[in-house]
Amino acid sequence: TCPQSLRNSKDEDFQKAFLPNIRVFMHKDNFNIKDWNRLSHFNNPFGFMDMKYDDVLDAVKLIPKPTEPLLLPKPGGDGCVRCAVVGTGGILNGSKMGAEIDAHDYVFRMNAAVIKGFEEDVGNRTSVYVHTAHSITASLAFYQKYGYREAPHDEVLRLKQQQIFLYVSHIILKTHLSFFILTRFYVLHQDFMRYVRNRYLRSNSLNQKYWAIVRPTNGAFALFLALHACDTVKAYGFMTEDHSKYSNYYFQKFEKTHVIFFANHDYIMEKNLWKSFHDRKILKLYQRTETEG
Ligand SMILES: *[C@@H]1O[C@H](CO)[C@@H](O)[C@H](O)[C@H]1NC(C)=O
Ligand SMILES: *[C@@H]1O[C@H](CO)[C@@H](O)[C@H](O)[C@H]1NC(C)=O
Repeated sequence: TCPQSLRNSKDEDFQKAFLPNIRVFMHKDNFNIKDWNRLSHFNNPFGFMDMKYDDVLDAVKLIPKPTEPLLLPKPGGDGCVRCAVVGTGGILNGSKMGAEIDAHDYVFRMNAAVIKGFEEDVGNRTSVYVHTAHSITASLAFYQKYGYREAPHDEVLRLKQQQIFLYVSHIILKTHLSFFILTRFYVLHQDFMRYVRNRYLRSNSLNQKYWAIVRPTNGAFALFLALHACDTVKAYGFMTEDHSKYSNYYFQKFEKTHVIFFANHDYIMEKNLWKSFHDRKILKLYQRTETEG
């Protein structure tokens, strides 16, 4: 229903890679012994290698079946679902993009999404928050000094749900990616994660000795989730060519830091992919220097 939808992109490479009907979510009704037999061959978070079937089953049973489509067009609009995906990149410091970000139908955030005190630059709405068991607990320890208090949410999460997602994502699924939309809770399917890695972000590091820890960033998964749930996507706070001009994170306002290149992610490959998506009009990438005028 949305003519500008990225699904109608004329880009041949994108059309070849993009699978609009890929399974995005793991939930209680789409996991059985057959799925287990298949998924137990892939390493975490792309499958359940080294885990026990009963443990995984106990956790997956707690994940509600998602209502789909995930995001509906806003009533009275033109049928398009417009999303902003807000990374934590230092490029957002001083950007004054807050109002523009908030004007989207849905706002995605991830990891240590500090909002309080940074509204002018990053906005104040959160529709979808993407995290891992690690990021939801570690963010508090690492980023409290920048004002991070808790995972952002528009509505108050009921404790029971919070306990369930901590249990599911932390105790059993370890670093599997989960996220929540308002008070709903979802877990990304392992098939979706392998799809993102294999079709778009197949890093050369996967051929190195430490291949087993190599995976796309949470930001990359959040962006691909948006590409599958929205018609148009604008990415803010993702890495750009001129990233060395900015701090690692936007909330590092008073100290100039540098991007830390952890060995488990291929930041350069991701940066180049966002730029290429931007140039091919699949999404819009917020780039401070280039887009003026
Ligand atoms: C963040 O932005 C402010 C306002 O533009 C600027 O004064 C400050 O130097 C920036 N901080 C860093 C670390 O770049
Ligand atoms: C944040 O929220 C309030 C309303 O709750 C709004 O008036 C304000 O303009 C919002 N946006 C920004 C960028 O601060």
